Amino acid sequence: MEMMTEMDVRTSRLPGFYKLELAERVAVVAEWAGLSEQEAAVLAGGGLSPSQADLMIENALGTYALPLGVAANFLVNDRDYLIPMAVEEPSVLAAVSHAAKVIRAGGGFTAQASSPVMIGQIQVLDVPDVAAATATLMSHRHELLALADSCNPSITRRGGGARDIETRSFPDTPVGPMLVVHLLYDTRDAMGANAVNTAVETMAPRVSELTGGRVNLRILSNLTDRRTATARCTIPAAELAQPGIPGAEVVRLVAEANAFAVADPYRAATHNKGIMNGIDAVCIATGNDWRAIEAGAHAYAARDGRYRALTDWRVDDNGDLSGEITLPLAVGVVGGATKVHPTARVALKILGVESAGELAGVMACVGLAQNLAAIKALATHGIQKGHMRLHARQIALAAGAADGQVQSIADQLVAEGNIRVERARELLGN
Ligand code: MEV
Repeated sequence: MEMMTEMDVRTSRLPGFYKLELAERVAVVAEWAGLSEQEAAVLAGGGLSPSQADLMIENALGTYALPLGVAANFLVNDRDYLIPMAVEEPSVLAAVSHAAKVIRAGGGFTAQASSPVMIGQIQVLDVPDVAAATATLMSHRHELLALADSCNPSITRRGGGARDIETRSFPDTPVGPMLVVHLLYDTRDAMGANAVNTAVETMAPRVSELTGGRVNLRILSNLTDRRTATARCTIPAAELAQPGIPGAEVVRLVAEANAFAVADPYRAATHNKGIMNGIDAVCIATGNDWRAIEAGAHAYAARDGRYRALTDWRVDDNGDLSGEITLPLAVGVVGGATKVHPTARVALKILGVESAGELAGVMACVGLAQNLAAIKALATHGIQKGHMRLHARQIALAAGAADGQVQSIADQLVAEGNIRVERARELLGN
């Protein structure tokens, strides 16, 4: 008999996982990811302590908790992943897990990330001759790169550091002509905000000397268009069939939904919000800066002057559904809160990613799957039925149901088709 390999055992297909009790789910994931008892205890509520919070921010009062779950079924570059996600919105995890299962039937995702190259910006004003200043900067490129590298030996030791200098000129601004110097800087496995900001601050006096101008801002750009990740998948039409809707029709409806979000910024904002439902939840779970990721994603979506969908879903030559997403994903697996927040540490262990690029690739897959789940539902039976079913538990909680009553009140609301706080209060006798 053929031996089962470790990869066979570590499938992210976990049928019935959602039906388990919370403690049983923790046990399954702990076993899957090889968590220690202590690490598993972190999931069960021992996350960030108030005293740790006090060391992280000013004026701390305590902590703010969010539900943490795992999405199942992800197969990325032939490897199985369980995806930790922290999010308060019902149906995000169920939807993304379902989409990942359908995508898995087509062979899963392929994902790749560019080199982790960030952009640091230096704003230079009052430059006497912009063309001459640009030429001077370029002729001092090596000196400037060495200066940028001098302030972060640990990143350069790990193979990262300054890569290039570029200039951009804005001749006509309300404050006069503006020269903007970009430092391209490889931050390896860190998000790298501090490294980039230190590098541009260090370079700034020399940039001022070389250009004869006055430096104002020195800060990274969150439009990290040199640090992107791409995910792709192809789903056989038959896998998309629904009761009463043939697979080929679902393929067409999804492609039409995508076209709506490419054509119309009003739709694109909602379409991309759905993508970020998934990506932000992984960012938060892994201690990454989700505001940076949000800023980068939406700026990138508007990069050609008009805001549009981050995804492309189309009918391929075989009549199957082919999807693709590319977006900036400046995330790290070292530095920031990733190693400080106990839950983020455990989440990264569950995810099992080795590098920032691998994390970015997986996050792009999550975004693509989350989007498929949303637009497939919207283009077929709508999202409200499934969503309200899950939302009913929050309604019961909001009406004051105790933990032991929540599910039965929620079931009653669903059965009555009346998922409202007032009705939940009535049922509770409040
Ligand atoms: C809700 O959080 C997200 C959706 O609105 C996304 C979409 O419309 O594509 C369902």
